[in-house]
Amino acid sequence: MDKKVTVVGAGNVGATAAMRLAEKELADVVLIDILEGVPAGKALDLAEAAPIEKHDSKILGVTNDYTQARDSDIVIITAGVPRRPGMSRDDLLSTNMGIIRDVTREVASVAPNSILIIVSNPLDAMCYVALKTSGFPKNRVMGMAGVLDSARFRAFIAMELNVSVENTHAFVLGGHGDTMVPLPRYSTVAGIPITELLSPERIDALVERTRNGGAEIVGLLKTGSAYYAPASAAVEMAEAILKDKKKILPCAAYLEGEYGIDGLFVGVPVKLGSAGIEEIIQIKLTDEEKAALENSASAVRKLVKDMERLGL
Ligand code: APR
Repeated sequence: MDKKVTVVGAGNVGATAAMRLAEKELADVVLIDILEGVPAGKALDLAEAAPIEKHDSKILGVTNDYTQARDSDIVIITAGVPRRPGMSRDDLLSTNMGIIRDVTREVASVAPNSILIIVSNPLDAMCYVALKTSGFPKNRVMGMAGVLDSARFRAFIAMELNVSVENTHAFVLGGHGDTMVPLPRYSTVAGIPITELLSPERIDALVERTRNGGAEIVGLLKTGSAYYAPASAAVEMAEAILKDKKKILPCAAYLEGEYGIDGLFVGVPVKLGSAGIEEIIQIKLTDEEKAALENSASAVRKLVKDMERLGL
């Protein structure tokens, strides 16, 4: 392949993302982890599936050897500790802050022109750590949250109305977490707003389920958090960049005044192409939606303050 994607963290999300990248022949893949043997073992296992899955992407797994990430086009960062039952994303703050800082330093030195897609939680705060540590311009650092949140909303809409998921479109703004802001009036089935297809009560129920989508899966799995859909979401972003698709997707982006928010990562619609975030799309919000987005931004701001107190 003429493109290279490094995935840091060979756990559930990272290994699944590596598999999807390879099977779609989007790039050669390097899988990096701190664990001895695990990234090499998973990469070899994936390479042995290639003849059956019919792809020629190369997959290499290494332990802490960042020289293998040299000149990557994209680096997807999933390293960290996942949530356990009863644990909030914010509990992960201090541990994952240190991990993201170390990983970003390594990546920035070997792949200074790469685009970073952050997956580790708490997402919006980890994006901030990656931006500050890498010194990369803001168009080359982004977080995966909105694509996952809107995929969850779409899945629930399709289940509710018994229609193809392909007919659904959903719009979710804000931080990844309990303060996310699903926008029903911009969420559609075959172009029809769901506000015309479902009662306000049913919409509220689907919105609530979307908001708790991560926690619902943590509660079921008990030993970790969701990974199939998060990996799909990160790979959709990578594909839009690698193929310069100019695709509009909700991503965590560093805002400097857009939506009245300054100096924070918050989930907003952006245009993804070969330069990364090529445009932040500003849509008109109602007063209620504005207040919900501001509430979401305040939660992210609080995390950033906490990190500064912890020595960011
Ligand atoms: N460098 C590289 N890899 C690391 C480091 C580090 N400094 N610290 C931890 N890791 C690795 C772990 O060894 C593990 O293999 O990150 C991997 C994380 O994988 P899982 O524990 O399976 O977690 P996963 O479900 O993949 O979630 C990863 O994504 O969705 C978020 O909240 C989730 O922050 C979590 C991240």
